[in-house]
Amino acid sequence: MFPRALILALAVFVASTACLSLDINNQTSIRQAATVLAGGIFEYHNISSTAGLFTQPEPWFWWLSGSGWTTLIDYTIYTNDTTYVSDIHSALSQNLGPNNDFVPTEQSGWEANDDQVYWVYSALTAMEYGFPALPCDTPSNTGSSCPNSWQSVAVNAFEDFVVRWNIDSQTCGGGLKWQYDPKAKGWVGNPMIPLSTRERLMSVSQNYKNAVTNAGFFQTAARLARYTGNQTYADWATTVWNWSITSGLIGSEYHVFDGTSDEADANCSSVNHMEWSYNLASYLHGAAHMHAYAKEDTIWETIVNGLVDSANTTFFTPSSNATGIMYEQICERQAMCSVDNTSFKGSLAKWMGKAAVLVPSVAPKINALLRPSAQGAAASCSGNNSTCGTKWYIGGFDGQTGFGQELSALDTMLSLLAADAPKLSVSA
Ligand SMILES: *[C@@H]1O[C@H](CO)[C@@H](O)[C@H](O)[C@H]1NC(C)=O
Ligand SMILES: *[C@@H]1O[C@H](CO)[C@@H](O)[C@H](O)[C@H]1NC(C)=O
Ligand SMILES: *[C@@H]1O[C@H](CO)[C@@H](O)[C@H](O)[C@H]1NC(C)=O
Ligand SMILES: *[C@@H]1O[C@H](CO)[C@@H](O)[C@H](O)[C@H]1NC(C)=O
Ligand SMILES: *[C@@H]1O[C@H](CO)[C@@H](O)[C@H](O)[C@H]1NC(C)=O
Ligand SMILES: *[C@@H]1O[C@H](CO)[C@@H](O)[C@H](O)[C@H]1NC(C)=O
Ligand SMILES: *[C@@H]1O[C@H](CO)[C@@H](O)[C@H](O)[C@H]1NC(C)=O
Ligand SMILES: *[C@@H]1O[C@H](CO)[C@@H](O)[C@H](O)[C@H]1NC(C)=O
Ligand SMILES: *[C@@H]1O[C@H](CO)[C@@H](O)[C@H](O)[C@H]1NC(C)=O
Ligand SMILES: *[C@@H]1O[C@H](CO)[C@@H](O)[C@H](O)[C@H]1NC(C)=O
Ligand SMILES: *[C@@H]1O[C@H](CO)[C@@H](O)[C@H](O)[C@H]1NC(C)=O
Repeated sequence: MFPRALILALAVFVASTACLSLDINNQTSIRQAATVLAGGIFEYHNISSTAGLFTQPEPWFWWLSGSGWTTLIDYTIYTNDTTYVSDIHSALSQNLGPNNDFVPTEQSGWEANDDQVYWVYSALTAMEYGFPALPCDTPSNTGSSCPNSWQSVAVNAFEDFVVRWNIDSQTCGGGLKWQYDPKAKGWVGNPMIPLSTRERLMSVSQNYKNAVTNAGFFQTAARLARYTGNQTYADWATTVWNWSITSGLIGSEYHVFDGTSDEADANCSSVNHMEWSYNLASYLHGAAHMHAYAKEDTIWETIVNGLVDSANTTFFTPSSNATGIMYEQICERQAMCSVDNTSFKGSLAKWMGKAAVLVPSVAPKINALLRPSAQGAAASCSGNNSTCGTKWYIGGFDGQTGFGQELSALDTMLSLLAADAPKLSVSA
């Protein structure tokens, strides 16, 4: 007989060496892998003292929980597993805020445009897939006229962005700033982020016009345009896209750069050329919706192709002997990715998968990149209880675990199911 301790030790050994089983040619297998990873998110990250937020290591990011709920909506739709619907409803309703636009009082004083938009994506996704509505907060209303319907929430946020764009356009010929509230103490107000980081970010956030923020407005407008058919949204999407080109945030060959600034009369004359995967991804998904909106138009199809090629060039060759596997090129090889950085690959996988559905001509190229990435991600999920690592190109687990890693791996599994998901709906 084995002593109990030894049995446990063996169990841990087995658990930590078995990698997540995945056959990328078998939808059932992909769904099962996604179910394991979604379960892992709740097993390790679902005990938070703050309503609707996942536990994460420090520093803590509110936006990342929004990103997680969006992924779990995809998970629910792609698998028909309704386990998390009540948790999703509870989290989203607790973070909607008094104006139903994801500006909750609890986050005031530091919440920025990009934080907000990562929660807005959950409402847009729910709207597009006909995800069950929240109980209407004005019971006499129904459908899209309900003040907290998914569509109303997305439109409320869109209108916030329009107002802020008009204020911020006094410099740089346009462009949303990272921080929307000029009186906000910015990141200094968020006690969960270490003071040194907050002070540095604070000085930047009031002047920085960054890609994730402007792409977020672009994507929100583009998704509303496709869903409603209303040209007002399409015009805004084009305005933001055009500014992103003229400001240099989107450069030659569709490289997407992190940001530019109006600090000290700089008027956005120089660009921070760092390339993070979620910036490109945020524009890619918006462009795919614009193609679906404009239908016969080839302009957006060309743009989507260009962005996918740029993604391939920048985020899929981690080493000369590993190609076609997604990696975060700024930080990953050096094992320097922060908590939020580790989640960006999830945005890229999720929105490449959806772009392939909206722009069928680009699907072969996207699949050729997502399939080996998913295989690499699964191989990395060999920590305890299939927790996933950061690097997907080493054929195993690198020992780095966290909410961002789990989310990125889950998004990548789900991206292989996007093609078989229900068709995106349009407003009634
Ligand atoms: C697909 O995967 C499921 C779950 O792992 C398995 O039961 C089934 O046999 C697989 N089908 C094929 C054709 O391999
Ligand atoms: C997550 O935590 C909440 C609050 O403790 C709980 O109600 C819920 O059942 C948990 N969800 C899962 C899937 O474990
Ligand atoms: C989910 O349910 C719908 C409606 O019943 C069905 O058409 C679809 O095939 C199901 N999808 C999966 C992955 O089981
Ligand atoms: C700032 O840049 C915008 C866009 O390029 C330009 O239209 C504007 O004239 C510039 N303002 C100043 C003060 O140089
Ligand atoms: C189109 O959207 C705009 C912005 O939300 C709104 O003001 C306008 O009423 C909408 N037009 C129609 C025809 O619904
Ligand atoms: C955007 O730029 C294109 C190409 O330069 C131009 O045709 C279009 O009118 C511009 N649209 C807006 C809304 O600025
Ligand atoms: C990635 O993490 C680093 C280190 O915390 C941080 O400085 C940087 O702002 C993060 N990048 C983005 C785009 O959030
Ligand atoms: C990605 O880029 C590499 C190197 O240029 C190229 O060989 C490969 O065909 C590209 N992959 C896709 C899917 O476009
Ligand atoms: C698995 O968990 C055990 C016990 O908590 C820990 O000692 C071990 O380092 C973990 N292994 C991995 C690969 O995370
Ligand atoms: C793995 O999951 C099992 C079942 O939920 C749990 O009992 C165990 O503590 C977990 N192991 C580790 C190392 O977290
Ligand atoms: C890639 O090549 C390097 C150096 O030749 C080697 O150390 C590494 O193990 C290789 N990686 C893979 C995945 O084969």
